[in-house]
Amino acid sequence: MNLDEHIKQVRKDFQADIEACKDEKGIQDIHVKYLGRKAGIVTHLFKELAKSSPAGRPALGKQINDIKNFITEAVESRKQSIKLGSEKKSFTDLSLPGQPQYIGRLHPLTLVQNEIISLFEGMGFEVATGPDIETDYYNFEALNIPEDHPARDLQDTFYLNDGRLLRTHTSPVQIRVMESCRPPVRIIAPGRVFRKDTPDATHSPVFYQVEGLYVDEGVTLAELKGTLLTFARALFGPKMNIRFRSGFFPFTEPSVEYDFTCIMCEGKGCSICKGTGWIEISGAGMVDPAVFEYVNYDSEKYTGYAWGMGVERIAMLKYRINDIRLFYENDLRFIEQFS
Ligand code: PHE
Repeated sequence: MNLDEHIKQVRKDFQADIEACKDEKGIQDIHVKYLGRKAGIVTHLFKELAKSSPAGRPALGKQINDIKNFITEAVESRKQSIKLGSEKKSFTDLSLPGQPQYIGRLHPLTLVQNEIISLFEGMGFEVATGPDIETDYYNFEALNIPEDHPARDLQDTFYLNDGRLLRTHTSPVQIRVMESCRPPVRIIAPGRVFRKDTPDATHSPVFYQVEGLYVDEGVTLAELKGTLLTFARALFGPKMNIRFRSGFFPFTEPSVEYDFTCIMCEGKGCSICKGTGWIEISGAGMVDPAVFEYVNYDSEKYTGYAWGMGVERIAMLKYRINDIRLFYENDLRFIEQFS
């Protein structure tokens, strides 16, 4: 190849290189390859020129100068356009479709618990809390639950190695509150409770309760009924009624089990309420004087009522959910349905 042909070849090669070049690194490489001071192709052409016959030198020299200028300009302008391109990419293109962001939601149990809290707050109750890990004293003894009571059974209660336990109900908060203040006391205590139950459609080893306690002079069972009825109607509508059936709890006397009108059939009787028209909610009663003894309340002067309430139970009725386990699987397809 003579020098003239070589120059033409360099131009071709350069054009192919520059077209294929996409980024700053590429253009940098091309710069070095063609314009590098020591080993660049253009430098090489000049060296060949020096060796060529003097007659043709001026014309060839001009050609080499031309191609050098051409390459220099082309490299420069390509550098500019690559730089511009990358700058462009860093602009936000407002016409692009947005990226959907996942928005978290409150768990259905939190929603229902919040609703329960706000309804009772509206009736003058304050929120109290206690620890999940309790002592035997608060969970059982001070609630007048005797040593041999089945609720203390190892079958039902999760015990820690140090003798403490996971509370089996929110009733220990009653004791903690009464220990720390004098009547009148009007609190609700929402919280998590634990029982050694095998999970099935209606049982979970962890569940939520809302405890209620009202102690003052002259508090009656009728007021308990009025409070629970007001709550039931605020939650499920004016057609709700409640009924008390006799029950037993060591810490209340008398004790009742209370039911709400079946919200599915409005009391007519259906498969959900097994034809009775009533749905069992939980237990309640008048605080047993023996409990007042433990907290040094004068049972001659004060009376009080207390109730328990299962949050899952209320949530299942409200949202027509037929399996308690759904609350604990954390399947977003389930959780996202509530707001
Ligand atoms: N603690 C009882 C339970 O978990 C419910 C209850 C609370 C009953 C307050 C009476 C008074 O079953």
